[in-house]
Amino acid sequence: MKEKYFEELIGLKVGVAVTGSFCTIREVLQEIESLVESGADVYPILSFSTGNMDTRFIGAEELKCRLKEITGNNVITTIQEAEPIGPKKLLDVMVVMPCTGNTMAKLANSVVDSPALMAVKSHLRNNRPVVLAVSTNDGLMGSAVNIGKMLARKNIYFVPFGQDDCINKPFSLVADFTKICETVKEAAEGKQLQPLLIKEDK
Ligand SMILES: Cc1cc2nc3c(=O)[nH]c(=O)nc-3n(C[C@H](O)[C@H](O)[C@H](O)COP(=O)(O)O)c2cc1C
Repeated sequence: MKEKYFEELIGLKVGVAVTGSFCTIREVLQEIESLVESGADVYPILSFSTGNMDTRFIGAEELKCRLKEITGNNVITTIQEAEPIGPKKLLDVMVVMPCTGNTMAKLANSVVDSPALMAVKSHLRNNRPVVLAVSTNDGLMGSAVNIGKMLARKNIYFVPFGQDDCINKPFSLVADFTKICETVKEAAEGKQLQPLLIKEDK
């Protein structure tokens, strides 16, 4: 799969904002590596949560070190650092992976109070694509309305997502992060990768 997309992402400038779905962060780091291996030039951005919180899944400093190591680029951790992304046309595609229910709600309501949100807002002013990789336990509850709003919005694409454990977490939705390279490639061409909804495999 990686080889197939290797040439197609070469030279593509991709911002990846990592927000606070901490249990998915190790998998997300692997997929950021896939983007780099596919030839994309990846610029990491954090929310204030991921930039500051140490959790049982990863520490904030370790996350910053890993992102810098994987991408070779400095990690954006402030709103001021994220602001030039739009005016300087720094990115081709902006990704939020993982995208929390919190960040989804703010995106749906144009609230901009983290570097991740500033990066998206700044990038969208250039009429360029944004890719969201949702991960939230209330995706089919409180966050459903926000996901719906974002599905209907111009220049927004989703990494295919579905229920990850419908018995034990009936409202939870999570993206298939392994599809990030394909989703970015399609989004760069103004297309949504299909199928958008994936079946649960548990
Ligand atoms: C260990 C841990 C795991 C979390 N996992 C998730 C998650 O998978 N999805 C989610 O929407 N929020 C999750 N949260 C809550 C978010 O981190 C919290 O809502 C935070 O304010 C998100 O901020 P951000 O969206 O700016 O990163 C988790 C919190 C902790 C401490």
